[in-house]
Amino acid sequence: MNPTLELLHSHRSDRSFTDQPLSEAELDAIVEAAYRGPTSINGQQVSLVVVRDPARRARLAEIAGGQPWIAKAPVFITVLIDFNKTAKAVAAAGERQVVHESVEGFGVGAVDAGIALANLMLAARAQGLGVVPIGGIRKDAQAVIDLLQLPSLTYPICGVAIGHVAQPAQQKPRLPIQTFRHEETYDAQALSPTVIAAYDATITDYWQRIGRSDGLPWSRNLANVYKLVYYRNTKPMAAKQGFLNDK
Ligand SMILES: Cc1cc2nc3c(=O)[nH]c(=O)nc-3n(C[C@H](O)[C@H](O)[C@H](O)COP(=O)(O)O)c2cc1C
Repeated sequence: MNPTLELLHSHRSDRSFTDQPLSEAELDAIVEAAYRGPTSINGQQVSLVVVRDPARRARLAEIAGGQPWIAKAPVFITVLIDFNKTAKAVAAAGERQVVHESVEGFGVGAVDAGIALANLMLAARAQGLGVVPIGGIRKDAQAVIDLLQLPSLTYPICGVAIGHVAQPAQQKPRLPIQTFRHEETYDAQALSPTVIAAYDATITDYWQRIGRSDGLPWSRNLANVYKLVYYRNTKPMAAKQGFLNDK
């Protein structure tokens, strides 16, 4: 198979890393892959903060609710929605930027950040490295903002831990592809209670296979997480950074 497709089809999040650092060339190639990614209207409203300092990685691991793989992996890259840069360009053209105050702006920034995240992961895996994307940094966005000295109109939306894999992860099964790929129009029947029950069983088997006795069925796990707004400070923190006022 085409090696790029092979990498994409074999995606897995790895959470077991060695101490071996990345070379400068590996890291530069990873960053360049995200830098070259597309952005809405070529706004380039994305920036990265590359963290290699062990103390700062340990602090990020703590902020994310105690995720040891962030401290262990030699590199953590935070992906920012960055309307600070665009505001300067808009000001240079003699106008005041307002798009960051809208859901539209935050959504655009989040999509562009997601593309950057995907490119970082593919470029890392293309060099034989392992990755785990991290949203847990939003658990305490203020702490991330302070730690990384983020200016207004930037928001740490996600990140990725990158390193050499110690114990490779097993690929996690997905829902049937028919629940994902709709032809011409959306098929709301594709995800039936039977399909959910079958996938719950598949995921339970997977947890058993990898020896995770705390693994929950998919629907139970989603219920536990999605019955709440789990990071309740995203809206106030985004507002404090200048985003999402009322437009
Ligand atoms: C935006 C995003 C945020 C995530 N945040 C975390 C996180 O904070 N900690 C973690 O261990 N995994 C995190 N993950 C990884 C998911 O748990 C993982 O992708 C999912 O369980 C599917 O497993 P797989 O990536 O191995 O296929 C995140 C994934 C994404 C895409």
